[in-house]
Amino acid sequence: MDHHDPGYGTTARVLHWIVAAAVLAMIPAGLIMVRDGLDRGLQDVLFIFHKNLGSILIPIVALRVIWRITHPAPPLPATLPAWQRRAARGSHLALYVLMVALPLSGYVRVRAGGFPIEGLDALGLPALVGRSKSLAEVASTVHAVAAFALIAVLAVHLGAALHHALIRQDGVWGRIWPPRAPGRRT
Ligand code: HEM
Ligand code: HEM
Repeated sequence: MDHHDPGYGTTARVLHWIVAAAVLAMIPAGLIMVRDGLDRGLQDVLFIFHKNLGSILIPIVALRVIWRITHPAPPLPATLPAWQRRAARGSHLALYVLMVALPLSGYVRVRAGGFPIEGLDALGLPALVGRSKSLAEVASTVHAVAAFALIAVLAVHLGAALHHALIRQDGVWGRIWPPRAPGRRT
């Protein structure tokens, strides 16, 4: 491996870990809040948390996508088999698509259903989608399918990350952690 690979810059690292922490909280909140027979008070808290944190993710993910397009990923260690580099590229692309699709479909589902998003409403931000039962249903299906796909890809992503960090110890882990890049890369 190349011991001088500096990995991702600080901005990409910080965005990765902000989104990772938020998404890893959003998934259990979403799964628990839709359960039948859940305590109403807990359900309300989880819905408010899920809708509002999820809405904040829309501009954060947009920024991340723009950053990624304008700042290509550093090359992976040349010692990695080609199929693993392809798998990394494919799964990262899938994660980007899903991290865009999830908050957008969630937003559309809630707005088309005529429901509040407390934080955005308090700021006076209007609903950007009109009420529509059929649109709400489509968005709900997209949201649930995307959530399932995200969980599956994340299982692979976390497995690969642990494998690199603990078993191979090939420097891939250090490409994204810690959040501040060594040196002075942005
Ligand atoms: C504890 C949780 C997580 C760990 C340990 C982790 C670990 C990593 C590692 C080691 C890399 C670097 C891979 C490389 O150098 O090519 C990476 C990149 C990446 N991770 Fe994660 N990750 C986590 C959570 C997430 C989540 C929740 C998402 C998305 C929803 C995500 C999306 C990505 C993406 C898209 C990249 C590629 C970055 C780019 O090329 O711009 N990660 N992650
Ligand atoms: C990265 C962002 C998000 C993730 C990972 C995520 C994840 C999930 C998961 C795992 C579920 C349960 C699956 C199901 O049975 O439908 C769910 C449901 C739900 N989510 Fe999200 N979500 C995100 C963003 C949002 C946003 C931004 C909103 C609204 C503003 C939202 C609104 C909802 C609603 C209303 C449900 C209940 C299911 C339904 O009524 O269709 N989500 N979400």
